[in-house]
Amino acid sequence: MDLKELILKTRSFRRFDESYKIDSKIFESLIDLARLSNSGANKQPLKYLYFNNEKDCEKIFPYLAWAGYFTEWPGPDKGERPTGYIIILGDKSISDIFGVDHGIAAHSIMLGATAAGLGGCIIGSIKRDELSNEFSVPDNFEILLVIALGKPVENVIIEDIKDSDVKYWRDSNKNHHVPKRSLNELIIKLK
Ligand SMILES: Cc1cc2nc3c(=O)[nH]c(=O)nc-3n(C[C@H](O)[C@H](O)[C@H](O)COP(=O)(O)O)c2cc1C
Repeated sequence: MDLKELILKTRSFRRFDESYKIDSKIFESLIDLARLSNSGANKQPLKYLYFNNEKDCEKIFPYLAWAGYFTEWPGPDKGERPTGYIIILGDKSISDIFGVDHGIAAHSIMLGATAAGLGGCIIGSIKRDELSNEFSVPDNFEILLVIALGKPVENVIIEDIKDSDVKYWRDSNKNHHVPKRSLNELIIKLK
């Protein structure tokens, strides 16, 4: 797969085959990609928790918000939920600020997931205090992002944006459509 194809395939998936279990080795290889990624001032202040057993996945699910534009959709039904999660933590004993490190790390993990035949969704809308309490995460760690992972069962299709409407939508066959702005709109040419 060339880089553009990898990026094109690395979409946000929110419905998965819940019977598909992800081996711990995969999680470790994904976190290794994050470990090798760029870090502001090379501080490397991020730490990771991963979960791939059914009980823990069930515990994490209610603390996450899914697809904010789908106001009628509470998130994936039982049978289509993620079978693994990575929680990206900021280690406050290393730094007070984490810059964009967690975004970069999250994307490395997402690209690695695609390359491994999986898919995921970066989740920023998290009940952080509740999730932290659930797993007794020590005080020096701040929950920054959660990445939901699994074997996707949905098609995600990139669309040209219309009328500047950034909202993704789902069609009657449950295909998920994601509008992207054009390259022309993004590149600013100063006069
Ligand atoms: C920093 C960040 C936070 C996100 N938080 C959520 C979230 O809380 N819930 C969710 O369902 N999707 C979340 N997403 C996924 C975005 O909605 C998704 O990236 C966007 O709709 C574009 O789709 P694409 O990733 O397939 O290009 C997040 C993505 C990023 C980068």
